Amino acid sequence: MTDKTQKILMCPPDHFGVNYVINPWMEGQIGTADLSYAKRQWQTLHDFIARQCEVVLQPPQSGLPDLVFTANAGLVLGNKAIVSRFRNTQRQGEEAHDRAWFAANNFDILDWPSDVPFEGAGDALFDRGQDLLWVGQGFRSDPTAPALLEKMLGRKTVALTLIDPRFYHLDTCLCPLQDGFVIYYPAAFDEISRAAIEAHVPADKRIPVGENDATQFCCNAVDINRHVFLNGASTDLQDDLRNRGFTPMVIGLSEFMKAGGGAKCLTLKLVEA
Ligand code: ARG
Repeated sequence: MTDKTQKILMCPPDHFGVNYVINPWMEGQIGTADLSYAKRQWQTLHDFIARQCEVVLQPPQSGLPDLVFTANAGLVLGNKAIVSRFRNTQRQGEEAHDRAWFAANNFDILDWPSDVPFEGAGDALFDRGQDLLWVGQGFRSDPTAPALLEKMLGRKTVALTLIDPRFYHLDTCLCPLQDGFVIYYPAAFDEISRAAIEAHVPADKRIPVGENDATQFCCNAVDINRHVFLNGASTDLQDDLRNRGFTPMVIGLSEFMKAGGGAKCLTLKLVEA
C-alpha cells in the first residue's frame, strides 16, 4: 500500500560528480564517481521509493554537482519553505534553483537572513513521535539556526552539536523513524547533545549504532511506510529494525558516498506537519 499523502523531491544525477572537496568523504575522490553507475544507483533508489509514495523531480543543472542532494534544498513545514543558505561557496549556486523550485510549486517562502548558513533538511529533522525539530550545527548550519527556526516555525527545536567532520550534517548521524524511534551515532555528538537525545527519546525508542554502521551512512535513511531506505547496515541493525516493525531496504549508493551523501541526502519530504 502506498502512502498517498507523502511526496518526495529528488533531482536526477545528470550533472552529478565530485568536483571539489567540502567534506572528508570527498577527499581524494575528485573525478572518481562513475556517472553511469551513479545514475543506475539513483534510479534504483527512485524506483523503490516510488513504490511507497509519489516522487517529484527537480530539474538538474549543469555546474551544480551536489544539487542531487535535495535534502539540502530547504526545510518544509506545511506550506512553508525555508530555502537553504549554503556555508560553502561551491554550493551557493544551488540556492537560486531551490528558491525557484519552491516558488514554482506554490510554497510560501519564509525570509531567512542571507548571512546565516542553514542547510535545510540536511540539518533539521522532524521527530516522528513528538512535535519537535532536531537541528544540527557545528559544521554547516549556524549555531543561531535552531533558535531562529523555533521562532519562525513555532516548533520546539532541540539543538545538537556535531563534532565528527565525517558526520557534518545532522542527517548523516541521526534519523527519526515512525512512532518516535531514532537511529543515531552517539559519537558524532558532543556530550550535551547526547544527553539531550537521551532526555527526549525514551531508551526503548533509541537505536544507537556503532562506527561500522555509521560509516555506511545507516543513519542517512529515508523512512516511508515503515520501509527504511539506506546505503548500508549490518545484519544486526537490520534485524533490530525488523524486530521493531520496519523493513530495511539496503540500496548501494557508493558513487554518492564519494560526495558524502546517502539515501536521505538524495531526498526531501515535501509533506511535513
Ligand atoms: N557533497 C555534499 C556536501 O558536502 C553532500 C551533501 C549531503 N547531503 C546531506 N543532506 N547530508 O554538502
